[in-house]
Amino acid sequence: MRNYLLSTAIVCSLLAGVTACSMTNAADDAVTPAIFAADGQVMIPKDWRQWVYVGTPLTPNALNDGKAPFPEFHNVYIEPTAFAHWQSTGKFANGTQIVKELVLIRQKDADEMNEDGSTGEVSGVGYFQGEFAGLELTVKDTTRYPDEPGGWAYYSFGHNSPPYADTAKAFPTEACNACHETNAADDFVFTQFYPVLRAAKP
Ligand code: HEC
Repeated sequence: MRNYLLSTAIVCSLLAGVTACSMTNAADDAVTPAIFAADGQVMIPKDWRQWVYVGTPLTPNALNDGKAPFPEFHNVYIEPTAFAHWQSTGKFANGTQIVKELVLIRQKDADEMNEDGSTGEVSGVGYFQGEFAGLELTVKDTTRYPDEPGGWAYYSFGHNSPPYADTAKAFPTEACNACHETNAADDFVFTQFYPVLRAAKP
């Protein structure tokens, strides 16, 4: 966030006297958009682990008949300029990017793990984060995706350990968007599970 503001300030001061600083105008303009390849696929974001962290749902196998679709932790981050827009308006700007990175429950030798997959660590018995295991992205772009409800497109860079794919193509509406539209609390985003976004909403 601070870096973003700093670089904005630099751009503005370099431009001073030449032209008005457009970075500070309409909020949508101030949002850093996703980058798309020539074939229309989205490029993997560069530095999502430095975005604003918003929450971590967890659906372990032990609580889902042994077969949760995503048994990992789901670490969710929003791109910082989109977060700033949310913080000032309570809305997701055009250009908003949100990622969900899957992280396996910490594994140990079988004799050190409980049947429900939990482990005993110094803070107590529970679920602890192990290795990265997948990356998904959603982008709101009503210009690029006028036919997607809410303008939200959904992508996966792989449900596997890194390295992830460099690019991803948008899923069909029914595969992802439909469940988000029906069940998410705020403009297709599951803010009911993201305390950081709830706290930042004006
Ligand atoms: C059955 C409902 C359902 C379907 C289908 C679904 N999701 Fe989600 N998605 C969720 C829930 C619930 C969350 C909240 C976080 C969590 O529990 O993982 C979420 C969160 C996300 C997030 C974080 C941002 C947000 O909107 O909250 C991304 C990114 C995401 N999903 C991508 C996808 C992709 C890609 C697909 C299609 C391959 C997909 N989802 C299909 C239910 C769904």
